[in-house]
Amino acid sequence: MAGNASKKGKVVLAYSGGLDTSVAVVWLSEQGYDVVTMTADVGQEVIDLEAAKSKSLHSGSVKAYIFDLKKTFVENFVWPSLKANGMYQGTYPLTSALSRPLIAKTLVDIANKEGAAAVAHGCTGKGQDQVRIEVCANALNPKLDVLAPVRDWHFSREAEMQYAIDHGIPVKATAASPYSIDENLWGRSIECGLLEDPWNEPPEDAYELTANPLTAPDAPDYVEVSFEKGIPVALDGEKMDGVKLILALNKLAGKHGVGRVDMVEDRLVGFKSREVYECPAPIALINAHRALETMTLDKRVLAAKKELEVKFAELAYEGYWYSPLKNCIEAFVNETQQYVNGTVKLRLFKGQAVVRGMKASKSIYKHDLATYSEGDAFDHSAAVGFIKIWGLPIKTWTSTFPTQDKTELPIEV
Ligand code: ARG
Repeated sequence: MAGNASKKGKVVLAYSGGLDTSVAVVWLSEQGYDVVTMTADVGQEVIDLEAAKSKSLHSGSVKAYIFDLKKTFVENFVWPSLKANGMYQGTYPLTSALSRPLIAKTLVDIANKEGAAAVAHGCTGKGQDQVRIEVCANALNPKLDVLAPVRDWHFSREAEMQYAIDHGIPVKATAASPYSIDENLWGRSIECGLLEDPWNEPPEDAYELTANPLTAPDAPDYVEVSFEKGIPVALDGEKMDGVKLILALNKLAGKHGVGRVDMVEDRLVGFKSREVYECPAPIALINAHRALETMTLDKRVLAAKKELEVKFAELAYEGYWYSPLKNCIEAFVNETQQYVNGTVKLRLFKGQAVVRGMKASKSIYKHDLATYSEGDAFDHSAAVGFIKIWGLPIKTWTSTFPTQDKTELPIEV
């Protein structure tokens, strides 16, 4: 449709099939590029891949790639994050943040294959997805330009619609969603509209993957998650691949309203933003994984890992997926995960996924050391010497500077 002779070479555009990226196909063509589009299926429920392909070509792209990236997404991005219990600010399981390096990588791979001069994305200038895609694309091929047409074209919403109509791009007559949504296997991000006022309780129409915990089933479901080297491999004893496992757990945990997150988040572009997420499987899996680590990892390893987990989440959130520090932390995490094997029993009920039991074939929880009953193997007599030496610094201190506790003796009853 655009039909301009190409002067600038090829650009590979991340294409969702929505209005912005369709307009971007036309706009980039008008700037003199041959536009190649790349549509990635990372498990967003709303995408019709064939329709996206024909819409891309109809909008004037010279080639439209479609990829099912679900398996790669899970194995190379989601599982590494789960192994690190990845939660930004302790709360957000990094849903959208994890898909961006994969999208950047796929854009760069196609650009290399097609001999393109640039890659492009449809992010605006206010979010952090632009930062992630651009920083990751630069990390993977510093020679490629990264274009952001939506950030550059300065269309108002109305002007953009008119431009689309003028170029024969179908504009949906239905009212647009009041929210900005991004979705993949690892959850759903919901922002804008009414949610921008943190005082507003998120309305039920914001949610799609999770039931309202208040009206969720009155009887719980139990589910057993088995892990091998920190990776979930089976549900209720049934082995399944990661994509299937996450989909199944999203459904089951979502039915019980598990995984609703509502937070004010510190964006990397400097301001605070109210964000709502639905992450049923991530929340259930992170709870289970964390619990299993408590019975399979050494105390000091757990403590060191906890600190590195905070850093890992920040790096993933801030677009530093392909960075030396993230690689180092990942190496540490992988070393720990060889011990994280076992099964965790979760109870899904009224918005919560609670650990109700766990077992590990090589557990360092030792029943004979822990028990107060028959078979106690703990050396009670060793406690005497232990306390003497453990308490020695305190005893030495108080013999020099007497301890004063001003709490008064209570009145006798
Ligand atoms: N705040 C989240 C993040 O930066 C979600 C961004 C999702 N994008 C969207 N268009 N809703 O990871």
